[in-house]
Amino acid sequence: MALVTGMDILAAARRGGYGVGAFNTNNMEITQAILEAAEEKDSPVIVALSEGALKYGGKDLVNIVLTMSKEVTVPVAIHLDHGSSYESCLRALRYGFTSVMIDKSHEDPQTNVKETARVVEAAHAVGVSVEAEIGRLGGVEEHVVVSEADAILTKPDEAAWFMEHSGADYLAVAIGTSHGAYKGKGRPFIDHQRIKKIAALVPNPLVMHGASGVPQSLVERFVATGGEMKEASGIHEDDVRLAVTEGIAKINTDTDLRLAFATVVREVFKSKPKEFDPRKILGPARDEMKAIVKARMEVFGSAGKA
Ligand code: G3H
Ligand code: 13P
Ligand code: ZN
Repeated sequence: MALVTGMDILAAARRGGYGVGAFNTNNMEITQAILEAAEEKDSPVIVALSEGALKYGGKDLVNIVLTMSKEVTVPVAIHLDHGSSYESCLRALRYGFTSVMIDKSHEDPQTNVKETARVVEAAHAVGVSVEAEIGRLGGVEEHVVVSEADAILTKPDEAAWFMEHSGADYLAVAIGTSHGAYKGKGRPFIDHQRIKKIAALVPNPLVMHGASGVPQSLVERFVATGGEMKEASGIHEDDVRLAVTEGIAKINTDTDLRLAFATVVREVFKSKPKEFDPRKILGPARDEMKAIVKARMEVFGSAGKA
């Protein structure tokens, strides 16, 4: 199937009340895990490449992802994750990405809106959709006073103003999640009231970054092979499910795949010290990542929605 835009996938998701995963890739095996899972689950999917991934894999990685994505039958969008500049987004457009994120969330809101609008103008001219972000990702405690959370998290009024003036298609919101394997002690607090307030003012699909579940069983296996990881924690599946009913349509996952990859490679080295065939090291890691993507597609509700 030909690639589709991010908005094609996410508008259908928001209408249908389900979420779609954006999974980060850095190589062939991760890309295969994502796309094979999508095919087997009959699910739309977004394959995300960060600037770091592009620096690591260059045009070769882009070619792998584009070629493989065009061969599957389910809808796939190729997305630039956390694009840091206009130039970076233009490069992704030239590569043939069908979705770009311009992340100026660390700038003041006026600069953010202005820089996002520039990218929107260029991307929309070639039929590509745009994600933007307002607010700062980071864990907050449930008991913090509203003014403290407001200083970090996405303000509903500001989100509405931002979307109206930037023209972006979907919005990454700061609602308590954070990137990586350490998202706060215990079950991280997700500000569901805030998601609902934003969604009441912003009809566009909303995006949850930092959504990995960081499964405890994987963390234990990682540590059992000598890996070091203390007090890791991720977003509870029930929080993701609830967030989808509240307006989240795009759910970003990178850490879970990295953790699965590293854990299985460590296990192979530990249990088979004589093994040095890359296929026997990376193949099992690919299987584990594929199982994780499939399970998440069930949680998000995108399975069967292709
Ligand atoms: O949000 C960040 C993603 O996990 C990508 O991370 O920049 O290390 O590739 P990266
Ligand atoms: P995780 O670190 O929770 O996987 O989040 C990834 C992400 O948000 C990529 O943009
Ligand atoms: Zn992110």
